[in-house]
Amino acid sequence: MLLTIRLNINNIIIKEEILKIALIGLGNRGRIYANNLHLHSDVQISALCDKNASILESCKQTYGLKDDAVYISDDDFFAAGKLADALVIATQDKDHYRHAIKALDLGYHLLLEKPVSPDWNECLEITRLAKEKNLNVVVCHVLRYSAFYDKIKSLIDSGIIGEVVSINDIENVAYWHFSHSYVRGNWRNSKESGPTILTKCCHDLDLIYYFSGAKCKELYSTSSRKLFLNENAPDNATDYCLDPCPNRKKCPYDVKKIYYGITRHTLPLLLVKIKLITGNGNPRYRDLKEALKTSPYGRCVYKCDNDVVENQVVTMRLENNVNATLTMTAFSKSNYRRIHIFGTKGEIFGNDKSAKLELKIFGGPSKTVKVKAGNLFNHFGGDSMLVNDFLDFLRSGVATTRLSTIEDTLESHRLAFAAEDSRKFAKTIIFEDEVNN
Ligand SMILES: NC(=O)c1ccc[n+]([C@@H]2O[C@H](COP(=O)([O-])OP(=O)(O)OC[C@H]3O[C@@H](n4cnc5c(N)ncnc54)[C@H](O)[C@@H]3O)[C@@H](O)[C@H]2O)c1
Repeated sequence: MLLTIRLNINNIIIKEEILKIALIGLGNRGRIYANNLHLHSDVQISALCDKNASILESCKQTYGLKDDAVYISDDDFFAAGKLADALVIATQDKDHYRHAIKALDLGYHLLLEKPVSPDWNECLEITRLAKEKNLNVVVCHVLRYSAFYDKIKSLIDSGIIGEVVSINDIENVAYWHFSHSYVRGNWRNSKESGPTILTKCCHDLDLIYYFSGAKCKELYSTSSRKLFLNENAPDNATDYCLDPCPNRKKCPYDVKKIYYGITRHTLPLLLVKIKLITGNGNPRYRDLKEALKTSPYGRCVYKCDNDVVENQVVTMRLENNVNATLTMTAFSKSNYRRIHIFGTKGEIFGNDKSAKLELKIFGGPSKTVKVKAGNLFNHFGGDSMLVNDFLDFLRSGVATTRLSTIEDTLESHRLAFAAEDSRKFAKTIIFEDEVNN
């Protein structure tokens, strides 16, 4: 039996005509939210904070803020008191806790980037404090809001495939994306960010929970690292591709192929990541090449300080006897998720990049269901829909079924921490207790 999960929603309604929203962290994600918020005529971006002066200045101009509404220091930002009805927190994973606690103490509702925190106790503490202060925290599990996953949820809820028996999810992290984020970039080292099963796959674990409507009872996970190891560096490989390395022609991870040799694959990465790599709010193309000589993103993929796993499989038995598996792999040409849901009366199968679902009913018709296409870089439309739902929620106090409140989000995080323990210590995790929320 599917459950609709809604927990502890506070009926807080903001009545002002113009909603004031502040943002801290204006990197890739923060600017996506700021751009979406800026499209709403009843929203005012009232304050911004980012420690990068160039990015802060460029955002100040884009969103039309005055000098006294932008902060380069997070201490000064929080010391200024409550500057908006809600705050978007899109700083790096390890800063979320510190920023969220300060924000909740000031009385902000939060749109908080995932993961909530790389520390389970910090996740619980943010949840507890929000409840104590009667404030709402919505976590950016953006996939729930995309047309593709929204359609799957409504098909399941319609009962057309009967009761869900099993879910199989494969997260194909394209080789170019994996090398960017998990070998060279922000999420390469678990001590600096967190395990990949949390930082990358909490979305997938959340979808499994969202689609099944059930918490996990038992979990087992295995993983490996095969390629991005120092011992695999080719002979004479240099520390940076542009040193120059004699292996560049053959290496698929060469910075030219990944970042500035303009192909269908690299162009979006270039457009999205150029500010990150250059650390410049208004970078030029030539700044990118210059930055790659010394930036972490210019490093040889075999000579980085990465320690996160390259592939991982999680097997789960859920409370309602649904079985689920999640596979994450770095070794895929394209970046997409493939999901297969088996029900007592039929199946749903699809890959999120194709914007199509196969719906197969036993003894009945099979059909292709087309969904609205988006692109990978806006999570197939999920980013803007999340912002819309968050704003509606602040105004009405009514949560949609898909609203990813922090209470809902805890399950995905609990599973990620358990999967990390399981794969590290080769043990099956059996959950005895409910999440304490
Ligand atoms: N929802 C999703 O699907 C999704 C996708 C990618 C990343 N994320 C998450 O979003 C968050 C941001 O990721 P990103 O890719 O935008 O990273 P990013 O590095 O591009 O942006 C982070 C920004 O925060 C700023 N910053 C860092 N520390 C700060 C501080 N103390 N005070 C003020 N500003 C500070 C940086 O200067 C930078 O501009 C991370 O937690 C990440 O895991 C979520």
